[in-house]
Amino acid sequence: MIAKKKILAIIGSTRANSSNLKLVAKIEALSKKVFDLTIFDEISSLPHFNPDLDTNHPPENVISFRKKIAEADGIIICTPEYIFSLPGSLKNAIEWCVSTTVFSQKPVGLITASASGDKASEELQLIMQTLETKFNEHTTLLIKGIKGKINDQLEIADTATLSNVIKFIDAFQDLLKQ
Ligand SMILES: Cc1cc2nc3c(=O)[nH]c(=O)nc-3n(C[C@H](O)[C@H](O)[C@H](O)COP(=O)(O)O)c2cc1C
Repeated sequence: MIAKKKILAIIGSTRANSSNLKLVAKIEALSKKVFDLTIFDEISSLPHFNPDLDTNHPPENVISFRKKIAEADGIIICTPEYIFSLPGSLKNAIEWCVSTTVFSQKPVGLITASASGDKASEELQLIMQTLETKFNEHTTLLIKGIKGKINDQLEIADTATLSNVIKFIDAFQDLLKQ
């Protein structure tokens, strides 16, 4: 039996009832056979990034966050757009990784699930390209109108959206094999 790939899914929303969190829970359910997926929905616990604290001894939860990324075979980032950009908390979490190589050559799946989300999607791709992660157009997904597309039972009624989510999982699985 082939070992399941270890995936860390970082949620860009800090809301308890987040659609992005539900979407990742749906992805977890759909990919159970192939991914051992851990959800990281604690970006708000990380301190404000400050280069002065980014020393050989950074804050404990920063060390733990970086370790989770380093140990994963692949990362999914699933985020809403806030004022035509990434949510500050997600950008902050990523800033804590810039001085490290934890993202370098890491396969990533980039999902922007928002009301609209075009700008955040572009920005996330630029940031992840800068951090030298591995992704392609098929492991990049933009879902518009997310709040109306997934319910509390994790059902996605819109067939096109469900199909795109399944294609994303397949493409991410392929990327992990490369
Ligand atoms: C402060 C704030 C700013 C927002 N700005 C945008 C935006 O620029 N573009 C967009 O598509 N949605 C925007 N939204 C709406 C979010 O996309 C929507 O609330 C989304 O469902 C949030 O994701 P979540 O359910 O995972 O928390 C904004 C929401 C908030 C709270």
